[in-house]
Amino acid sequence: MSAAPLHADNAAQAEYWNSVAGRRWTDRQEEQDLVLRPVSDRLIAAADARPGQRIIDIGCGCGDTTIDFAARVMPGGEVLGLDISEPMLARARERAPSGLPAGFVLADATVYDFEPEWADLAVSRFGVMFFADPARSFANLRRGLKPGARLAFACWREAKQNPWMMIPLREAKKHAPPLPETNPEDPGPFAFADDARVRRVLSAAGFADIVVIPVDLDLDLAIGRGLDAAVAGALGIGPTSRILDGQPEAVRAAAAADIRKALAERAKGDSVPLGAAIWIVTATNPDR
Ligand SMILES: C[S@@+](CC[C@H](N)C(=O)[O-])C[C@H]1O[C@@H](n2cnc3c(N)ncnc32)[C@H](O)[C@@H]1O
Repeated sequence: MSAAPLHADNAAQAEYWNSVAGRRWTDRQEEQDLVLRPVSDRLIAAADARPGQRIIDIGCGCGDTTIDFAARVMPGGEVLGLDISEPMLARARERAPSGLPAGFVLADATVYDFEPEWADLAVSRFGVMFFADPARSFANLRRGLKPGARLAFACWREAKQNPWMMIPLREAKKHAPPLPETNPEDPGPFAFADDARVRRVLSAAGFADIVVIPVDLDLDLAIGRGLDAAVAGALGIGPTSRILDGQPEAVRAAAAADIRKALAERAKGDSVPLGAAIWIVTATNPDR
């Protein structure tokens, strides 16, 4: 990452999102946004953005939700997408339609100098689980929120409740050594799987009215484009891609063949709908 201030404990995540993960997410941006559309729909419903509002999109990545929300706050509103990944922000900037009130900033949410009491709402689609010190990060974000402003984000529930990820990963594990063990609260996609932790973190950061709702969805890994697209989706992003990283071509091909078999069993026409379990979290920045 360039000169933007970065909390030292987020350095490994910044490196990851500026290299391999940043590449994967930009390579698969269009497909990934289609796969995650049902998540965006739930987040948009929970956020209830209004024309004229200012919104911060935390960990906005390639900008899909920033662009969605920018269309909702017109006229008069504005959305600031914030991310530590230069390549993902570059994609966000390039795809945001001109005239849409969406801006992007390269920044670490933990230490970014938010304009005080600027936003009416903060949102995130899977961009808040990667902080080394989430209570500090959310407290910092809160400075950028008006009194009474709302927070709404989507995060994953436990990995084992997410067949979209577990089914391909199970097949890949037959061929490649497992990823190094991590603690459940380490930064990563499942760091907020425990709803009690989410409540603890947000309340330590000073948020009130914390509501954590479980939502079960089907994600179509094939995005209606058939089995090959589903296999590419499974191999393209997330733990399955990481486990196969650097493996010999023969290993990758064998894993892909098994993933294909497992996904074929769940195919419905050109779709491969797989279960996904998320939390939709909302909270309020208390009035003074
Ligand atoms: C799983 S991706 C989600 C991206 C995007 N919200 C989406 O749904 O497509 C997580 C995002 O969080 C960003 N991120 C991780 N740590 C961050 C931090 N400390 N400050 C800002 N963004 C961060 C990553 O760079 C990445 O873009």
